[in-house]
Amino acid sequence: MKNTAIIIFVSVLMLGAIVQSDKSLAAGGHETHMENLEWSFDGPFGTYDRGALQRGLQVYRQVCSACHSMKHMYYRNIGALGYNEAQVKAIASEYMVEDGPDDEGEMFSRPGKPSDRFVSPFPNRKAATYANNGAFPPDLSLITKARAGGADYVYSILTGYEHAPKDAHLLDGQYWNKAMAGNVIAMAPPLADGMIAYEDGTAETVEQYSRDVAHFLTWAAAPDMEERKRIGIMTLLFLAVFASIMYAVKRKVWSDLKK
Ligand code: HEC
Repeated sequence: MKNTAIIIFVSVLMLGAIVQSDKSLAAGGHETHMENLEWSFDGPFGTYDRGALQRGLQVYRQVCSACHSMKHMYYRNIGALGYNEAQVKAIASEYMVEDGPDDEGEMFSRPGKPSDRFVSPFPNRKAATYANNGAFPPDLSLITKARAGGADYVYSILTGYEHAPKDAHLLDGQYWNKAMAGNVIAMAPPLADGMIAYEDGTAETVEQYSRDVAHFLTWAAAPDMEERKRIGIMTLLFLAVFASIMYAVKRKVWSDLKK
């Protein structure tokens, strides 16, 4: 009996080893590397950090928005980051929005309003691709949902630039990035230490900028996450209380019959 148990145990271990070695073979060549960070929004009680969200919006506005659109966002949405109505209006009005046609049939530009969508850096996909050496900068509204790893992925891309290994052949405008599939990305490293001035004394480093913008993009893709978690917990609490009441009722109903 004992021997059989040992044989089964050893076989399972060996099987595990084979599966493992198979995985590393399949990956082959250079592997992609994903950081695994702790986020305040992790877990069933996790919430967003308003400071990080505001800094992340700042990083997006000052850097990423030069190339990446966020078409699903409206300026009024950023009220949820802790800005009051006047601040939201002020931020929206920093952008010029195309509107019209006017009474003469002409399109015209006017300052943005809270009801406008985030202004895109390029008029269409072709213009964006043309301006970026043939690579399209994807819309970032839902990027943390569209890519495995979510916030970790965005953070890993932004901090994943490295010197290319000697055997790599990079074209002009291509960069070595250990987090990107295939390790080659057509986005120049967008961040550098000290390039964005934070007002709240947070470290002005590539790591911190990347963390903050990943936090912000996670919120943008799932702004109702906190509410959903709250409802989930309330539902579980309700079910627990309801179950115990039902159990008490059942005992009461059956108590006579058992005698
Ligand atoms: C100068 C233009 C430019 C700027 C600025 C820029 N990006 Fe990019 N980004 C690109 C392009 C072009 C690609 C597509 C790269 C490719 O497909 O190889 C890209 C790709 C990405 C990807 C990978 C998308 C995927 O398909 O998995 C992420 C994530 C990303 N950018 C986030 C950001 C963030 C966050 C910022 C701001 C900190 C930023 N980018 C700033 C041009 C830019």
